[in-house]
Amino acid sequence: MASVGWFMVLGISAAAILVHGQPGDTMTPTKPIKDGQTLMSSGGTFELGFFSPGDSKSRYLGIQYKGTPDKAVVWVANRISPVNDSTGVLNLTGDGNLVLLNGTGYIFWSTDTSNAINPVVQLLDSGNLVLIQGTSKILSWQSFDHPSNILLPGMKLERDLRTNIDRHLTSWKSSSDPSPGDYSYKIHINAVPELFLWRGSVQILYRTGPWTGRGFNGIPEMETTKTFRFNLSSNEHAATYTFVVLDNSILSGLLLNETGVVQRVVRFKPKLGWDVYWWHPKDPCDEYANCGVNGVCSTSYSPACDCLRGFSPKSPQNWRLRDNSDGCVRRTALNCSTDGFSVLQQVKLPDTSNATVHSGKNQEECEDWCLKNCTCSAYAIIEGSGCVSWTGDLVDIRLFTDGWENLHVRLASSELGDTMTPTKPIKDGQTLMSSGGTFELGFFSPGDSKSRYLGIQYKGTPDKAVVWVANRISPVNDSTGVLNLTGDDKKRSAFLNWQKRLDIILGIARGLLYLHQDSRLKIIHRDLKASNILLDEDLNPKISDFGTARIFKVDQIEENTKRVVGTYGYMSPEYAMDGIFSVKSDVFSFGVLVLEILSGKKNRMIKQAEAHVNLLGHAWRLWTEGRCLEILDEAVGCTYPESKVLQCIQVALSCVQERSEDRPTMAEVVLMLGTEGALLPQPQRPGFYIATPSTERDWSTSNKLTVTIEGR
Ligand SMILES: *[C@@H]1O[C@H](CO)[C@@H](O)[C@H](O)[C@H]1NC(C)=O
Ligand SMILES: *[C@@H]1O[C@H](CO)[C@@H](O)[C@H](O)[C@H]1NC(C)=O
Ligand SMILES: *[C@@H]1O[C@H](CO)[C@@H](O)[C@H](O)[C@H]1NC(C)=O
Ligand SMILES: *[C@@H]1O[C@H](CO)[C@@H](O)[C@H](O)[C@H]1NC(C)=O
Ligand SMILES: *[C@@H]1O[C@H](CO)[C@@H](O)[C@H](O)[C@H]1NC(C)=O
Ligand SMILES: *[C@@H]1O[C@H](CO)[C@@H](O)[C@H](O)[C@H]1NC(C)=O
Ligand SMILES: *[C@@H]1O[C@H](CO)[C@@H](O)[C@H](O)[C@H]1NC(C)=O
Ligand SMILES: *[C@@H]1O[C@H](CO)[C@@H](O)[C@H](O)[C@H]1NC(C)=O
Ligand SMILES: *[C@@H]1O[C@H](CO)[C@@H](O)[C@H](O)[C@H]1NC(C)=O
Ligand SMILES: *[C@@H]1O[C@H](CO)[C@@H](O)[C@H](O)[C@H]1NC(C)=O
Repeated sequence: MASVGWFMVLGISAAAILVHGQPGDTMTPTKPIKDGQTLMSSGGTFELGFFSPGDSKSRYLGIQYKGTPDKAVVWVANRISPVNDSTGVLNLTGDGNLVLLNGTGYIFWSTDTSNAINPVVQLLDSGNLVLIQGTSKILSWQSFDHPSNILLPGMKLERDLRTNIDRHLTSWKSSSDPSPGDYSYKIHINAVPELFLWRGSVQILYRTGPWTGRGFNGIPEMETTKTFRFNLSSNEHAATYTFVVLDNSILSGLLLNETGVVQRVVRFKPKLGWDVYWWHPKDPCDEYANCGVNGVCSTSYSPACDCLRGFSPKSPQNWRLRDNSDGCVRRTALNCSTDGFSVLQQVKLPDTSNATVHSGKNQEECEDWCLKNCTCSAYAIIEGSGCVSWTGDLVDIRLFTDGWENLHVRLASSELGDTMTPTKPIKDGQTLMSSGGTFELGFFSPGDSKSRYLGIQYKGTPDKAVVWVANRISPVNDSTGVLNLTGDDKKRSAFLNWQKRLDIILGIARGLLYLHQDSRLKIIHRDLKASNILLDEDLNPKISDFGTARIFKVDQIEENTKRVVGTYGYMSPEYAMDGIFSVKSDVFSFGVLVLEILSGKKNRMIKQAEAHVNLLGHAWRLWTEGRCLEILDEAVGCTYPESKVLQCIQVALSCVQERSEDRPTMAEVVLMLGTEGALLPQPQRPGFYIATPSTERDWSTSNKLTVTIEGR
């Protein structure tokens, strides 16, 4: 007999084929069941009888699922007292006590019921063994009230503080021993009920996260499944959890296995064997309080633990050794009157054991209440419960890549800044903190130096290791430097991933094509540059500022002007030097823009250690050296389609070629960018690839932040 397939299920309506045992699904006091005899549910799905699990020779009375060759066991009567030979017999006494005894009358197990009139025992097709009073049909006892290691549809996990009912799952010791193992899975009547996985009675291994109306917050799969409907009903002193399977071609249960893993197991009727839909704990972040109090676990971090924003490791040494158990502490004490909130998105909400529900409060009222109550450390809006608040430490938070709930964590006002805007420059002495509190951007003086540098520092270590320096070669001499974000760059300051950048490039290309050829007039923009590209909330680009635009006649190719207007760095050579402008001078500007978007650098501001080349020169050199992917902004990350990036660079370089007749039209650009694997012409040397030495003192490492050194 297979031992791992020891699993259950129900609902099969195969015809009952009785091979042995007495026919029928009921027993009465005159018909005891001996070892070797069985009771069969009416649909033939389940069978009650004696069995020996795994390698064991002991005999147990249990309910087995008949639909599989391995007869998965779903319930065991005498879990802790096996019969050691085949003399076992199940006897129903006249007054309604169901008793398991052996040949010498030793009682191994009983329902401990009595005073029944005309008692009858029946095995239902749901897998439930019921003891009823034959005449009145009053239920005296049912096996569903005594779950072992698996929850079937219709069974309940239940806790009632008044009656002290505690129905929970307990694991088997091993596949050969159904006696209760170390693990149990229980419902907790928290502010918002949750299921907890315990080892013994002191160690919590895992919890599901609070109930959200359709599932548990920590199991996103429950919210999206269409196969099950889960039900949790609760009040302040009782909670009950059940589920139903909506698709009746599927059999399912919740199994707590011998190694302490809770599995949502599913079987499709025609299929042999079973599938594990989801299981917990499944990764280090599922382990209860893995990162300690006020820590945040994410499987996309390495190491997986971080502190909540505004908190730092209580013991940095231990954290360095990957021992996170003592968690994190606030860096800045709260000041009730001035505190605010930082939002953590897509989280498994903290343990609600000590939380409070404030029904009827919306998000605004909830935040307001939390702000006013100085002991409130966080709040969340949970579906089905509404406003929930926490006090003190926050325990067992993890991040998901999908999920719905947000946690609002109370922080001192000075901790609330991981973003800067054009209206909030960062002065020397002020810092920008990463949301997890791991990194800090600010001014510092390294070693013995008195000069001030803008650096990102790693906060996880006492020595605040510097991981990035902005102005490596241009230190500030005093503490008047200041980091400004200019308004133009605000939208682009977001970390733009590859797809977003490509979308922006394609959007600008189509916009320019429209001006050049799709509209009834032919419009030459003449001042295409980054600051004339407006990005809306969804970062869709729009070309703006037509103050310098010229309308061409349809057959007109170019025009010559004595008044060159435009922006240095974006102007083509023939326009800047001879005043000749055409669609091809716009194409040149477009090429510059594309290189800026790809590199995150401004054309005129780039500073090279060795020579005065601008972005075009830099790109051209990388291209000729076959290293052109190096031009890509680091902020893009390392997942991007290489061929598409190469294609964009090649198109950009062909747009900024010196001779206007070599440059493509926007129609050709759109075609090239839109065609996978298009064979593109080899670009010639760009125009204006030597930078004119800038007289400005500002420079930038990227267009995300513009550092302005205001020397005094
Ligand atoms: C069953 O157990 C009893 C006592 O524990 C022992 O005396 C007896 O020999 C056992 N019977 C078998 C068949 O092992
Ligand atoms: C089983 O129950 C019947 C009816 O109550 C009784 O006569 C019989 O003695 C019982 N058998 C045992 C082994 O207890
Ligand atoms: C019945 O069980 C008891 C307790 O284990 C044991 O002492 C006794 O020998 C068993 N009788 C038979 C016939 O197995
Ligand atoms: C959920 O369970 C409760 C108590 O068992 C029951 O009253 C309620 O009708 C159930 N709700 C749904 C939607 O099944
Ligand atoms: C318990 O479940 C986990 C996850 O599905 C599995 O890896 C493990 O082998 C199972 N243990 C047993 C004893 O079946
Ligand atoms: C809290 O903030 C208020 C308002 O800024 C200030 O007056 C008060 O001194 C602060 N209290 C503490 C303990 O920092
Ligand atoms: C709940 O409060 C008790 C008593 O203060 C504390 O011991 C326990 O750690 C708290 N639990 C959580 C999850 O915050
Ligand atoms: C603040 O919140 C705590 C915990 O929810 C509660 O016990 C206390 O009564 C509240 N205080 C006020 C003034 O509302
Ligand atoms: C920096 O920003 C501040 C505040 O917005 C502004 O007053 C100042 O002029 C800016 N400096 C530069 C060089 O842009
Ligand atoms: C900073 O100090 C150095 C050395 O004293 C000096 O050469 C440099 O000009 C100063 N820079 C500014 C911006 O004042």
